[in-house]
Amino acid sequence: MDIYFPSSYVDQTDLEEFNGVSKGKYTIGLGQLKMGFTDDREDISSICLTVTESLLKKYQISPADIGFLMIGTETIIDKSKSIKTVLMDLFKDSGNTDIEGIHATNACYGGTASLFHAMDWIESSSWDGRYALVVAADIAVYASGAARPTGGCGAVAMLIGPNAAICLDRKVRSTYMANVYDFYKPDLSSEYPYVDGPLSNQCYLQALDRCFNLYFDKANRNREELLNHEYSEQSAIELGHFDAVIFHAPYCKLVQKSVARMHLLNNFRLKTYDPNRFDTKLEKYRNVKLEDSYNDRELEKLLLTLSSENFSKRTDPSLMLAREIGNMYTASLYACIISFILSDSVENLTDKRLLLFSYGSGLAASMFSARITSDKTILSRLFNGLADVKSRLQQRRRVPPAKFEETLNLREKTHNIAPYSPTGDISLLKAGTYYITDINQKYHRTYSKV
Ligand code: ACO
Repeated sequence: MDIYFPSSYVDQTDLEEFNGVSKGKYTIGLGQLKMGFTDDREDISSICLTVTESLLKKYQISPADIGFLMIGTETIIDKSKSIKTVLMDLFKDSGNTDIEGIHATNACYGGTASLFHAMDWIESSSWDGRYALVVAADIAVYASGAARPTGGCGAVAMLIGPNAAICLDRKVRSTYMANVYDFYKPDLSSEYPYVDGPLSNQCYLQALDRCFNLYFDKANRNREELLNHEYSEQSAIELGHFDAVIFHAPYCKLVQKSVARMHLLNNFRLKTYDPNRFDTKLEKYRNVKLEDSYNDRELEKLLLTLSSENFSKRTDPSLMLAREIGNMYTASLYACIISFILSDSVENLTDKRLLLFSYGSGLAASMFSARITSDKTILSRLFNGLADVKSRLQQRRRVPPAKFEETLNLREKTHNIAPYSPTGDISLLKAGTYYITDINQKYHRTYSKV
């Protein structure tokens, strides 16, 4: 894995003051510290080019060894022409044009759809022994208003193949999809979504309920896929089986509330195995209907208290990048996996079991799981590849909110216009970053690299 994020950020405390909201609304209320953003020099193709080339270089992968490449993104340019086609430039010199995969779009879910396709390709008769590459990337910007502090920007690239550092479990993926207008982008002349914030929060939790139950049904039906020797044959697989529970993170407070909700969901499952295993502190809610409980503030508060230790131990370590960068849409879940890896050492992380939840508005959601390898040499390679992430975060530039607003106004005004010559300062970009040099009359984009 590798991650790219912008070299500029706005601090959420600065933004609270600038927007005239009460102190703590973004930092405590939403759980966010900083928000990464980029100017008119970068677009979705450039950030995908940057992270893909960086991954190939860091892990010394020959472009000829990639047989499948798929992009998950909801940041749209050129509509019918996929970002994947732009990335083919990175393979030109190797002569490799035989690369399956295209791009997947459904809000924050496209990265997961791409990952599942990559795994399926490797398990299929079409697999030719080469690696698959998955890139999840987005520039997440909202119109001025309540949703704007939940923006962000980032790109994660993942190499998929045998001898993996993180091994995905088979036969347990659970999915929930439905037709909802909680967040969508009907105005093709704008980068901004139409978003119904409260509805999107409710849909996220509803999807969590559905995916959780289906996941554990499947996990218990396919126990041999998940169990190893230390786990008793008789006991059911439940939340306690996992060392880390990692989420798509639109903003960190929603993730904390999701861990709280899982406490209720898990207790409902435990109760079916043995009524005495139901948490006595939840007695009042023994028969509560899930669909009636989304706006029950008293229950939410109780669950937040009961799950706080679980949150600190199993989920909080995965939120470092989400707090520092914000929502990266399709890349968010995968940035959380990277944060989890960066939170500990090779010695401590071997064999750890991860439960993963992906959500994309509209809506498409999945729960799946993975285990970190027991092979320290393989895991060390991943650690070495991610070794520069923390220092890159520290080297970022803190930009005042007025400049952040000005930059977003510039992106808004110049979005999708042609011809256009970007004005952003190239000296702010780190070595290896791709940027737009020009957009000509026919909307052809050309890129260069710092
Ligand atoms: N100190 C501490 N907490 C505070 C303060 C303060 N001074 N002021 C407000 N808060 C708390 C509120 O009590 C609230 O907490 P709660 O959720 O526990 O009730 C929280 O801050 C948010 O404040 P609200 O006024 O309720 O909400 P707001 O109008 O700011 O909107 C929202 C928040 C809906 C998340 C908005 O930012 C949004 O629409 N974001 C985009 C949609 C989104 O991310 N959805 C998630 C799933 S879909 C996806 O991935 C895109």
